[in-house]
This record gives sequence, C-alpha cells and structure tokens, in this order.
Amino acid sequence: MKILVLASSTWAFYAAAQVYDTQNSITAIAGTANLSQPADTLGNYYNYWKLLDNGTTWDLTRSDRMPVTSPKVIPMLGSKKKAIIEPSRTAFITVDMQNFFLHPKLSPAAVKGRNAVQPTLNIMKAFRENDMKVLWVNWGIDNFDLVTLPPSFLDGFSTNHQMNTSFCTEMGPLTEDNGTVVDVGKKLCRGSWNAQPWGSLYPSMVEGLASGTDLYFNKNRLSGLWGAQTPLGLYLQESEITTLFIGGVNSDQCVWGTLIDAYFKGFDVVYVEDCAATTSPWYAEQMVRYNADGNGFLANSTYVVEALKA
Ligand SMILES: *[C@@H]1O[C@H](CO)[C@@H](O)[C@H](O)[C@H]1NC(C)=O
Ligand SMILES: *[C@@H]1O[C@H](CO)[C@@H](O)[C@H](O)[C@H]1NC(C)=O
Ligand SMILES: *[C@@H]1O[C@H](CO)[C@@H](O)[C@H](O)[C@H]1NC(C)=O
Ligand SMILES: *[C@@H]1O[C@H](CO)[C@@H](O)[C@H](O)[C@H]1NC(C)=O
Ligand SMILES: *[C@@H]1O[C@H](CO)[C@@H](O)[C@H](O)[C@H]1NC(C)=O
Repeated sequence: MKILVLASSTWAFYAAAQVYDTQNSITAIAGTANLSQPADTLGNYYNYWKLLDNGTTWDLTRSDRMPVTSPKVIPMLGSKKKAIIEPSRTAFITVDMQNFFLHPKLSPAAVKGRNAVQPTLNIMKAFRENDMKVLWVNWGIDNFDLVTLPPSFLDGFSTNHQMNTSFCTEMGPLTEDNGTVVDVGKKLCRGSWNAQPWGSLYPSMVEGLASGTDLYFNKNRLSGLWGAQTPLGLYLQESEITTLFIGGVNSDQCVWGTLIDAYFKGFDVVYVEDCAATTSPWYAEQMVRYNADGNGFLANSTYVVEALKA
C-alpha cells in the first residue's frame, strides 16, 4: 500500500511536465534530461555542447564523458563564432565530387564545383595530418538499388524521362582534350569511370584509402545518411564520431541532404562553404548557408587549415 502511494506521488510529480502519459517516457526523460545541470550545457549525458566565453564559443568535445587528445579551436564564419572540436571524433565528408558532376565535358556548368577542388584537397590534407578521417560519400548504384529506386529518382536522373537513360545506363565514350578516349561507363553506377572522383581528387582518394586515412562510402539517394541506417551512418556511430565538416556538390542537393540528415541524427554539422558548390540558382546556395548556420556552423577551409596547425 505504501509503495502504491509513493508511486502515484512520483507520477504526479512528473505528470505536470509530461506530454505522454506513459511510464516509459517518464523513465526515459527522467533518466537523461537534467534541468539542474548548468544552463549553458545543451543536451544530455551522451550528446551535449557547452557554451563558453560569454556565448562566443561552442565546446563540441563531450569531454566530461569521452577522452580528448588535443582539442582545436576553429573560427567560424556564421553566427556562431568559434567551436572547439575533438580531432579523433571529427571527420571531413566530401559528397559527389565525381566525374559525372565535375568533369568539364560532362558538366560544363560546374565551374564553382571545380573551383572547390583545391580547397577540398587542402582541408583533406590538414585533416589527415591531424588523424581526422576523410570520408568520400558518392553515388554508387548497384543492381539491388536499381530494383528499389523510386520512380522520382529514375525520372530525375534520366535525360528523356525513361529508364533507358537513367541510372546505370551506358554513357558512351568521351574524348579528353589530349585525345585520350575514356569509357564514361554506366551512369553513377558503382565502379564506373563517371562515378569516380574528378581530376586530382581521384589519386588523392586512392592514396588516402591505401594509407587508411580515408574511407569510401557508396550512397543510393541524395543523402548518405537517409533512412534507419546506411554504411556511412554505421561507421560514424561505431567510431563515435560526433562532428562532421561537410563539402561537395551539389551543395543544395546531395550535400544538403547529407547535412540535414546528419543534423537530424544528432551530429554536429559544419558546412565548409568554399569546399562546396552548386549549379543551381544562387538562391539555392543562400538557402544552404542560411540554414546550415542555424543548424550548425559555417566554415572556410582556409581558417580551418590554419586552426588545425595551432
Ligand atoms: C544533474 O546535474 C548536476 C549538475 O551538473 C549534477 O550534480 C547531478 O548529478 C546531475 N543529476 C543527474 C541525475 O545526472
Ligand atoms: C557578454 O556578451 C554580452 C552580449 O551578448 C555583452 O553585453 C556583455 O558585455 C558580455 N560580457 C562580458 C563580460 O564580456
Ligand atoms: C529509349 O527508348 C525509346 C523507346 O521507348 C527510344 O525511342 C529511345 O531511342 C531509347 N533511348 C536510348 C538512349 O536508348
Ligand atoms: C589525358 O588527359 C586526362 C585528363 O586530364 C589524363 O587523365 C590522362 O592521363 C591524359 N593522358 C595522357 C596520355 O596524357
Ligand atoms: C574562403 O576561402 C577561400 C579560399 O578557399 C577564399 O578565397 C575566400 O575569400 C574565403 N572566404 C571568406 C569569407 O573568408
């Protein structure tokens, strides 16, 4: 009888603050949220930021719970001025910097995307030197994907609204400026030439994969983190990576899709402006910067590379 009375008074205590009238939600919320913790600690025991230095610096290291090596202070471009990151839990993701999207003969309009290559190479070098992972996240359709891809995707990636020009159809030969003829291969199909990273990015990836500083992930939607789980998502979870610097093409499509899913799933997202670009109208890029600033941080590779040397 006494136990029942205690239980119902506990219930009344929590019920005032609860939306759901289930015992489970009370247990879950009471076990994680702690409103007596300092107000500048945002989050719970497992996933939190600390706001430092009068609201100018966000500490993303989760260092109460997880070990730190040598955290770095990264100056940001947007409304959040600085972030402190733990290198061993931070990765750089480059999305879709593939021949299909960047080669001048396959995507003549992608001038800004090609300009993002050198900054991307620079930030990747700095990440590798700090034992921070470089993650290549690219379209790489396989036979199983072909069976399950929705009609909207098949239509969007065709040139005639029919299957025979969509994913994994032969794109024919291409003649480079020096006369070399390459087999462009099947459209964004896993292993094809057009799905390889463009230009000097390709040898950079091959070298990074061989030396273990880089990892490569195929994706079958715009986002590399959609749905319940993807290979990239599983890798990030198992490696306890919390913080993602993100670039690539197109910034408002596959980069944005990956960034917003990462944000939804609780990762810290940093949009690296000069490592990203789009062929879409200017307002699409503005949307990405506006919302990435709200959801996370905006960065420039130049400042990131400098900060990582400190
Ligand atoms: C809540 O936070 C305070 C202050 O950080 C701490 O002393 C206390 O142990 C926390 N309570 C729980 C249940 O985690
Ligand atoms: C903290 O920042 C606020 C503005 O956000 C400012 O008014 C205040 O003077 C600052 N305090 C210190 C000690 O710098
Ligand atoms: C695709 O199929 C249509 C017939 O439905 C045909 O007219 C067209 O030439 C085909 N295109 C290619 C690239 O095979
Ligand atoms: C021709 O140009 C392509 C693209 O720049 C390059 O990959 C290839 O090695 C070149 N081939 C020769 C024979 O120079
Ligand atoms: C960002 O870095 C690029 C070089 O990658 C530089 O040209 C540009 O001016 C920088 N932008 C800002 C806002 O600092």
